[in-house]
Order: sequence, then structure tokens, then C-alpha cells
Amino acid sequence: MTQQFEDGYQRRFYYLRLSVTDVCNFKCTYCLPDGYRPDGSKRPSFISLPEIKRVVTAFAHCGTNKVRITGGEPTLRRDFTEIVETVAQTPGIDKVAMTTNGYRMAKHVEQWRQAGLTHINVSLDSLDAKQFHQITGQNRFHDVMAGIDRALEVGYKQIKINVVLLKDLNSQQFPQFLNWIKDKPIQLRFIELMKTGEMDELFDNHHVSGVSLRNHLIANGWLLKLREANDGPAQVFIHPDYQGEIGLIMPYEKGFCSTCNRLRVSSRGKLHLCLFGDDGLELRDLMQSDEQEQQLIARISEGLTHKDVSHHLSEGDSGATPHLASIGG
Ligand code: 5AD
Ligand code: SF4
Repeated sequence: MTQQFEDGYQRRFYYLRLSVTDVCNFKCTYCLPDGYRPDGSKRPSFISLPEIKRVVTAFAHCGTNKVRITGGEPTLRRDFTEIVETVAQTPGIDKVAMTTNGYRMAKHVEQWRQAGLTHINVSLDSLDAKQFHQITGQNRFHDVMAGIDRALEVGYKQIKINVVLLKDLNSQQFPQFLNWIKDKPIQLRFIELMKTGEMDELFDNHHVSGVSLRNHLIANGWLLKLREANDGPAQVFIHPDYQGEIGLIMPYEKGFCSTCNRLRVSSRGKLHLCLFGDDGLELRDLMQSDEQEQQLIARISEGLTHKDVSHHLSEGDSGATPHLASIGG
């Protein structure tokens, strides 16, 4: 390794979140309530396989060993399996994860596994098919559940499920969710709803803190697990009577950013230092040939010196991010 990506607060970056498209076929109320609308002002193309290979290689040369492929919905790319393969074959990358809404999983997950995909996160906001439809705008609950079962069948040891906590919607379903993971190797991660630029009264109506959930877990014998260097932001709890685990992602809690170990590259080739940062730093012009690697690394390193100590969500400032589909949550 020639150098290590590090910011001005001694945070090191082991984990790259790479968005490969901002298109999505779901209409989650908190993300794309009106569905995906192409923005005519943007460059038409998403980063290509050779560009992906170069940027991932540069990150790997600077200490990154985990890449998460996100979107939008990343599996909407026709070359998704090749993307997995490209990332998995990059020397130094030993964890290749994806975040998906799961609608294609039942059919394709075996192929993704063969291509080198090591970890899967699926978004599943409800265990009730009708409520799932209501939240995501798609009547695909059973497809997603079949996909999760299939992933376990083809050999994944654990699947992570993301649930965005929504007051008066899925927050009532906590007992069902717990019951679901009793004998299943699933890590259920409850994410506090984050306010993004385009969000209207949804936040005020449905945001709920994870604190009461955490108190409930602790009172019922759940124990906090220790974090590893390239782990995501969840506080993970385990229980002797449960095969599954519970994760809590609480971005509104003080100190959330102190363990930040991840950087983001958008599907248009921009570096985002934070989910709630600014417009992003252009990298694409330096992804055009292998010879540019040192320049690319230099630009990223310089960019990192501007990484803020924390987001400003609690002041109501969600930066320039219109919704998470734009840079991949
Ligand atoms: N707040 C919290 N989580 C969100 N996600 C998307 N938008 C938001 C938001 N505003 C979640 C999705 C997915 C993950 C990538 O981010 O549900 O699981
Ligand atoms: Fe699509 Fe994910 Fe946004 Fe839902 S949260 S609309 S699945 S990108």
C-alpha cells in the first residue's frame, strides 16, 4: 500500500460505497415518492466498467478493503454481474457488498454469488405485504421475501435487512420483526428516518428516534457487539435466544460521525465525503486511463482534508442531497 486515505480528524477510510446508477424502480415514500425522474441537466452515462475498475483499484491501493455497490437500484444495470466481478477481482478488496431493494434477487442471487458478491443488504420496510406496497409503491413483498430465502439457500451465512423506522407505520411491527429473526441468520437494521432535501412533512409525521428501541432491547437481554474497522455505522445487538441480530442506525445521535470509515463515489463519478455533504468532487476526468491513478489518489487525498467532523442534521441541514437514491444511502 502506497498510502492510506485519512482525513483531518484521524479517521481512516476502509470502506467505499460505490453508486452505479441513480435509477430506481421503487417509489419509497421517504426517497423517491414520485418515482425516478431523469434529470436532463446531468451527464447521460453512469460510470462504466473500466472507470469502476480504476477508481476501485485506486481506493484499494490506499487501504480500502470493502466496497458496497449501491444505487438507486444497482441491479437495474444490465452489467451488474460484471460490476460485481470487476470489484471482486480487484486485488485488496475482500468484501464486496451490495444494497438492493431485492426485487431481482430470487432469480439472480446465485449468479451474483458466483461473481464474488460476499455481503447483501436488502431494504424491507414491512413484514405486511399491504404496508410494504404502501411504503414502496410496489406490490413486490413476496418477490423480495423469496429473494431473501434464496440468498440463504445459495450459501450466504447472513443477510442484512434495512428497515427505515416509520412512526405509526412499521414501528408497530417490532414484535413481528423480532419473531421473524428468531431462527433466521438475519441482521435486522432499524434506520432512523433522515431528512433529505426534497422531503416534505413526512419527516415531521414519521420520524422516530431509535432510543426507545435500544432501551427495550437492553431491558430484554440484548447485548451490544463490538465494532470492527470496516463495519458500517450500526450498533449491533445479540441475544442468546435469537439466531438473528438487531442493528440500530441512529444518525441523529451525538458522536455518530466519529467512527465514520466510509467514502462515497456517485454513479456520475463524484466523490462525496458525507451522505449529507456538498455537491461532490469531480473524479471522472481522472478515471479515464490507468496512468492517471496517482493524480486520482492525489485529488481524493486533497479532498479528504475538507471532510467535516460531522453532518449538520440536527440543525436541520441535510446538505445538497435531494434524496438518498442520488448518491446511494
Ligand atoms: N432515511 C433513512 N434511510 C433511508 N434510506 C433511503 N432514504 C432514507 C432516508 N431518508 C435507506 C433505504 C435503504 C438504504 C440504502 O437507505 O431504505 O435501505
Ligand atoms: Fe429505490 Fe432504495 Fe430509494 Fe426505495 S430507498 S426508492 S428502493 S433507491
